[in-house]
Amino acid sequence: MGRRLKLSFDQDDLLGEVTRGARAVVVCPHIRAVRTDLGIDARLEEARGLALAIGIIVADSFALPIRDVRPNTLFGAGQVEKIGTACELSDAELVIVDGALSPIQQRNLEEKLGRKVIDRTGLILEIFGERAATAEGRLQVELAHLDYQQSRLVRSWTHLERQRGGFGFLGGPGETQIEADRRMIRQRMARLRKELEQVRKTRALHRERRGRAPWPVVALVGYTNAGKSTLFNRLTGAEVMAEDLLFATLDPTMRAISLPGVEKAILSDTVGFISDLPTQLVAAFRATLEEVTAADVILHVRDMSNPDAAAQKAEVLDILRDLEIVDEEESRIPIVEVWNKWDALSAEQRNELAPSPRDAKSTVALSALTGEGVEELTTLLGELLTEEAETHEFSIPASQGRRIAWLYSHGEVLDDEDGGVGEDGPLRAISVRLNPKELGQFETMEG
Ligand code: GTP
Repeated sequence: MGRRLKLSFDQDDLLGEVTRGARAVVVCPHIRAVRTDLGIDARLEEARGLALAIGIIVADSFALPIRDVRPNTLFGAGQVEKIGTACELSDAELVIVDGALSPIQQRNLEEKLGRKVIDRTGLILEIFGERAATAEGRLQVELAHLDYQQSRLVRSWTHLERQRGGFGFLGGPGETQIEADRRMIRQRMARLRKELEQVRKTRALHRERRGRAPWPVVALVGYTNAGKSTLFNRLTGAEVMAEDLLFATLDPTMRAISLPGVEKAILSDTVGFISDLPTQLVAAFRATLEEVTAADVILHVRDMSNPDAAAQKAEVLDILRDLEIVDEEESRIPIVEVWNKWDALSAEQRNELAPSPRDAKSTVALSALTGEGVEELTTLLGELLTEEAETHEFSIPASQGRRIAWLYSHGEVLDDEDGGVGEDGPLRAISVRLNPKELGQFETMEG
């Protein structure tokens, strides 16, 4: 039978697909043709982590090689049987497939296994739905969720119409269930987009205000579970939730910190990155990552104790490329690699890995947990944020509001006084600290 689409949308409903405490079998389809840098073991481990992140008990987990993709069930008949047996043996009520399932595959598997089946996108949406704490985060997740549901409707729910005929709860005469569902989703999405627009405007305003105060922004990015929240807490003395859970942090968290030579900087923690982020969420979370595009320095936190550290780095760089921060190998914002969890490495591993002195300006090995090496990082940050800026004096027509506002938002304005009267009227005498890049931008700006 067709699954009913849920069309009421409070927070609980976003979590409605799976139950905390449910026992699940996690299956990782291993499709050779699909390029993935993470090894199958790491993927399985990550999938288990995702399930744990939403309070699911992983009763069993394994990978299954896929030679031919079966359009109806993804897995071959023998493999489906194997999953069924694993469910029986481990008393699981839920099957998590760590890959993308078409709606038909999902439904067929549910029928054959007699259990609920969710795919990777569904699972990640659940987690995001549960974790999003700000209004914006919630709206984005809901939008992504609807987008996910909508694609499922469009692609293959059509043949359900017959089964559901006469069951329409909304549509007028002649309107099929699927049309009514689609229409409601579209309307709801349009409303959400409007709300989101409003929230974003407010946030941009906040950022602009913050921008005007001459505080540099340091943004933490990194693969999920790399230790961003732990480092954030270490640097700010704050208590942000640091848990051994994927996606403990979803909404950007910001705090003021002081660094050597920098009285005040804003440290911003962001969502953890992950491989194969569902496309619906990539779009939604670009906005969450907007803070990063406005940063003065990016701290890329890496879990060096993870055997897949290199593949994770590549994933993170891919996302920074998507955000147009990194272009080929060049980054338009300085990136410092934080080699975290250094304490978890053996002396031998440390020796082997140790960042070379050549990379002293771009790499710091430390332990956010023990604090070892953190001072080195704050010193480096202080240097990076102050080294290049120099004080410049400008005499600017008071009518050039845009240029003046730009100086306030990009530089550190030290002085702003009446500068007498010039050809174009009253002048302002502004003394401002700018780095060479900003100076160049300012000089080419139209009045
Ligand atoms: P997301 O919210 O998923 O993006 O994770 P995160 O990057 O914020 O990671 P978080 O700070 O929550 O840390 C993840 C796990 O790694 C926790 O169990 C931390 O205690 C542990 N951890 C963080 N830093 C270190 C470290 O320097 N050494 C060791 N051994 N463990 C660490």
